[in-house]
Amino acid sequence: MFDPSTSWQILLALVAVSVLAKWMFTPPAELRHLPRVPILPLLWSYASGEVEDVRIKRLLLPFANEKGEGVVLVYALGRWIVHVLDHQIAKDLSDNISLWPKEEPPDAMLLWRFVGKTNVILSNGEAWTRHSHVVKSALTRNLPISEFVSLGKKLFKKMGNGGRIKWDDYTMRFTLDAVGSTALGHNFRAIEDDHSPFVAQYNEVMDGIASPLYIVFPKLEKWFPRREVIKNIDNLVNKFQKILEHKKENKGNDMLTYMLEEPGMTDEEYRDNMVVFFIAGHDTTAGAMSSFAYYLAKNPHIQKRAREEVIEALANDEEPDVTNLRKMNYVQACIRESLRINTPITYMVPRSSAQPVDVKASNGKTYYLPPNTSVILNITSIHHNEKYWPNAGAFIPERFFGKSEKDEIRVDASLWLPFALGPRQCPARNFAMYELRTLAAMLLLEWEWALPESSPHSDYPKNGFSPFALSLPKDMYIDFKRRTLPSK
Ligand code: HEM
Repeated sequence: MFDPSTSWQILLALVAVSVLAKWMFTPPAELRHLPRVPILPLLWSYASGEVEDVRIKRLLLPFANEKGEGVVLVYALGRWIVHVLDHQIAKDLSDNISLWPKEEPPDAMLLWRFVGKTNVILSNGEAWTRHSHVVKSALTRNLPISEFVSLGKKLFKKMGNGGRIKWDDYTMRFTLDAVGSTALGHNFRAIEDDHSPFVAQYNEVMDGIASPLYIVFPKLEKWFPRREVIKNIDNLVNKFQKILEHKKENKGNDMLTYMLEEPGMTDEEYRDNMVVFFIAGHDTTAGAMSSFAYYLAKNPHIQKRAREEVIEALANDEEPDVTNLRKMNYVQACIRESLRINTPITYMVPRSSAQPVDVKASNGKTYYLPPNTSVILNITSIHHNEKYWPNAGAFIPERFFGKSEKDEIRVDASLWLPFALGPRQCPARNFAMYELRTLAAMLLLEWEWALPESSPHSDYPKNGFSPFALSLPKDMYIDFKRRTLPSK
C-alpha cells in the first residue's frame, strides 16, 4: 500500500545524500575555474581498484590530448589536487624549489614511521641542501658496474636453463641486492635465497603500510592503531640501525661508507637516508627492467637489433664496462623508451606554494593557482602527450635518435622526465641507468626471450596496484632460452 510518509522519508534521504555528495565532491571556490575530472567515473575507478596508469590514460590524458589543457583537478584522498599535464609547467615548477617546496606528508601515515622525515626525499630548504649534498657526493664517488656484472651472473645462475620465469620477481631480487651491496654495503641475499628473512620482513611491512583503507583514511591510524604493523616497522628500522652501527666499524666500498665520511648528519638522519636509498633504489629500477624485457619480448625485431649491437660492442668476451656500454646507443634508446612508455614513478610527491602563482603551459594557456594548492607533476601524462610523442602507446626506440643512431637524444629534455627535473631530480639517475644498461647488455648476450602465448600482458604491461604512485609490471612471466655463445 502506498504510504506517503515513507515516500517523504526516501525523498529526504535522497536530498540529504545528494547535498552531502555535492558538499564533499565540489572543489573549493578558489579552484573551480580549473578544468576537472568528472567525479563519478573517478570514484568508480577508485572503487573498482583500477591501477593508476590506466586511470590516468583513461580519465586525465584526454584533457591534454583532446582539450589542450596544461593542468586538471583530480579528487583523491579526500581533497582536490591539481595534476600538471604540461611539460613546460612541470619544468618551471621543478626549477623553482623555493617557491614550490614538497608538501608535508600526512602525519598519521605509517610510511613515515618507516622512512622517517629527516631525509633527502622529504626535507625542504636548508635541511634538504645538507642532505642532498651528502647523498650526491656518495652517489658520485664510483659507478659500481663490476658489482652489477657479478650480480647479473648470480641472477643468470638462478635462472638455470631458463623456461617460464616470473620476471618481475627476478628483477626485484636483482635490484634489491644491487642497492644492498652498492648503497648499504649489505648482502640481502635476495637472489640466491628464496626466503631471505630481510626481504620477507620488508614485504610484510610494505603490505601492512599499503592497506587501501588506511591509505584513503590515514586518520584511522590514530583511531585504530595497528600494533602488529607498527611492531614490524620498528623491528625493520632497528635492522637498518644495526647495519649502520656495523658499517661505522667496517668501512667498505659503498655509498653508506661514503656518506659516513661526510660530517654533519645525526645517526637518525643517516638511518632515514638509508631507508630512502633502499626504497627509492630497488622498486623503480626493477620496474624499468621488467618493462624493458617486456617490450623487447613483444618486438622480436627490436630485440634482435639490440642484441647485434651488444655482440659487436662486447667483442672478445669483454664484460660490460663504461666504455663498451657507451657504444650501445640502440640499447640505451630501448631503455629510455621503456622508461617513457611505462614510467616507474607515475607522478611525483605533491608540491605546494605559499604564494599565488600563474603558471603558463607550452601552448600559452595560463592557469591561476591560489596559495597552498596541492600540485602533482604527472609524469605518465607528459610521457603520453600525443603532440610531443606521436603514437605514444607504441614502443619506438628511434624516437631518441637524432639524424643518425650515433647522435644524442633529440627530444627536449623536459619531455622525458622519468627521473624528474630540476635540482630535486633523482640524484641516482646515472647509477640507475648504468645498472639497467649493464643488465640489459648481459641479458641480450646470454638469453633470447618471448612472451608466453595468451599472456595477460599481451596488449600492454599490466602493472600492480600501488598506493605509492608506482607503475610496476606484476606477475609478468616471460619465456627465456639460453643462447649458445659462439666463443664458449
Ligand atoms: C629507474 C630507476 C629510478 C627512477 C625512475 C627514479 C625516479 C625518481 C624520481 C621521479 C624522483 C623525484 C621524486 C619527487 O620529487 O617526487 C626521484 C628522487 C630520488 N631518487 Fe630516484 N629513481 C630511480 C632510481 C633511484 C635509485 C637507484 C636511488 C638510490 C640508490 C634513488 C634515489 C632517489 C633519491 C634519494 C631521491 C630524492 C631526491 C631529492 O628529493 O632531492 N633513485 N627518483
